[in-house]
Amino acid sequence: MEEKFKQTFYVTTPIYYVNDVPHIGHAYTTIIADALARYQRLCGKKVYFLTGTDEHGQKIEKAASEKGLRPKELADRVVVRFKELWQKLNISYDYFIRTTEEFHEKGVQKIFKMLLDKGDIYKGTYQGWYCVSEENFLSEDVPLEPGGHKICPDCGRKAMLLEEESYFFRLSAYQQPLLDFYAANPRFVRPQSRMNEVVSFVRQGLKDLSITRTTVRWGIPVPGDPRHTIYVWFDALHNYVTGAGYDWNPELFRIFWPADVHLIGKDILRFHAIFWPAFLMAAGFPLPGTVYGHGWWLKDETKMSKSRGNVLDPYLILEKVGPDALRYFLLREVPVGLDGSFSHEGFVQRINSDLANDLGNLVQRILTMVFNYFGGEIQEPGEETEADRQLARMFEETAKRVYSHYDDYALNRALEEIWVFLNITNKYLADQEPWKIARKPEARGRLARVLYQALCAIRGSSYLIYPVMPETAERIWGFIGEKRRPGQVPKNDLNFYDLSAGTRTSKPEALFPRIDLQEFIGEVEKPKAALENASGQELKMEYITYEDFKKMDLRVVRVLAAERVPGTNKLLKLQIDLGTEKRQIVAGVAETYSPEELVGKEFIVIANLQPAVIRGVESQGMLLAAEVEGKAIIPFFDRELPPGTRVK
Ligand code: MSP
Repeated sequence: MEEKFKQTFYVTTPIYYVNDVPHIGHAYTTIIADALARYQRLCGKKVYFLTGTDEHGQKIEKAASEKGLRPKELADRVVVRFKELWQKLNISYDYFIRTTEEFHEKGVQKIFKMLLDKGDIYKGTYQGWYCVSEENFLSEDVPLEPGGHKICPDCGRKAMLLEEESYFFRLSAYQQPLLDFYAANPRFVRPQSRMNEVVSFVRQGLKDLSITRTTVRWGIPVPGDPRHTIYVWFDALHNYVTGAGYDWNPELFRIFWPADVHLIGKDILRFHAIFWPAFLMAAGFPLPGTVYGHGWWLKDETKMSKSRGNVLDPYLILEKVGPDALRYFLLREVPVGLDGSFSHEGFVQRINSDLANDLGNLVQRILTMVFNYFGGEIQEPGEETEADRQLARMFEETAKRVYSHYDDYALNRALEEIWVFLNITNKYLADQEPWKIARKPEARGRLARVLYQALCAIRGSSYLIYPVMPETAERIWGFIGEKRRPGQVPKNDLNFYDLSAGTRTSKPEALFPRIDLQEFIGEVEKPKAALENASGQELKMEYITYEDFKKMDLRVVRVLAAERVPGTNKLLKLQIDLGTEKRQIVAGVAETYSPEELVGKEFIVIANLQPAVIRGVESQGMLLAAEVEGKAIIPFFDRELPPGTRVK
């Protein structure tokens, strides 16, 4: 009941890592949050919408050093990309928090100190398997691999064994309070299936949590013990309180905390549904209303992520179709809790049928008729018939259902309902046949009524789609001369007939042009690979054809003899067996391999590369190697092969 009268709404997205530029997955969470924020504003609530970036920790430290940047420099650059994308997507956030901001760092230290004084944080020693990529110690039930190491279940990479002095959060003490809290608030974690998952995890028992690192420099120092930095997740989760004014804007904090909903991907559910409420309980803060774990966007059946190299570039899609088409597709295609698979065919089909056809054509047809029959002015409508009243009733019922879906975060259901109504409006026009009425000069009143009903229908629908498609709603308001805007139209006050005769409508234009699939694929899959070099410029990668590739003669060779090239640190002179002939090559691998250890080894050489003279020594080919931090690593084979074997 209390919920009904709550006049504020606080929604958050996860704060995104700045190790790389944003992709569709990040855009997805942020678009959901934006739709909810806009919906609540439409309802007249005071909204606070927080997003931002997670800038500390080993992952960022590592990414920065690979790019030859300081972590803060990398963060500064990536933040620009996030903000730019949010602007292009019309994301109406109220504050963009960066965890390197001073007020955040101070707030986190203050809470840390408070928990330390209280005994919820204590010092000990931690030994465990640590995944650098996920910045997380693996849970102990992850089994040992045959090689005696562990593999991170989240990212599939090899973990390393670490032992360090650490501060611990007394998570074990919160097992029962958490279970009690879940029992009293069964909608704390949504969807329901995720709540079950969380409860059964907590029931199995909770161990204390290591929340500091001595191995990571790029982090918030532990107050009074700066050899330790605060674990990035303890730091990051607290953005939800510091970003809402904790310790720097008491009024803001009073108004908005606790958050109504934390939107997150299901990958970070445990952090939000277990650690976060436990931290809050320890600090004595009220707990958030809901943690909503949405599904993943998949490409080729796996989670889209930068490390897997299968991300879709939102910029290219936006350039082609604009923000609303992308927002609509992502929110319409799958229920918020489930995974979705992105396919170009599915995308283009949805845009063409739902947006270009159902919505775009409808709006254009109605406006064209108002323009052609009435010179673009809304006329005093003639008497209402049962069919007209039926359309108005259908709208009112639709609106109620749409609002309740929005209240329930069921965005795809809300959109489905709106589209059913658009089709009802289409049907209304087909039944009333205004183009026939227009031929009878004595039926002007009836013609005015039919077009008036149709205009009311698209006006009403425009408010319902506004949370998801704000730009389209604005354009429709522009077309029909609508003066009121969200905030001025509390949801219960959305009257179907609120459209005055005499208002001028504008000449219609296409809302959503149809997209050609082949053209679309060509544009969004352009050779792009947005890699950045050390100075932050993009390196454009060009594709080669298979014909180009075939020109390379790649061969297995065996090393017969090896020696250093005098006067160099990097170069080795290698005599190699190419099967049909012997050759000499010069290779820059001396910093990684000694001449002795290469003799007898086999690897791949490009045999038809134009010979070159390097430091006075002729090289008749080039070996293939990966470069890692300036050192060459040669890929060897897992079995012996005859020299000269072709590689393709
Ligand atoms: N920095 C942490 C979050 C800290 S919150 C206190 C983090 N960052 S992240 O950059 O890796 O991405 C976070 C979120 O991006 C995910 O939880 C999810 O919301 C979104 N997504 C990233 N990839 C995604 C998909 N492929 N599909 C859908 N959303 C995904 O984790």
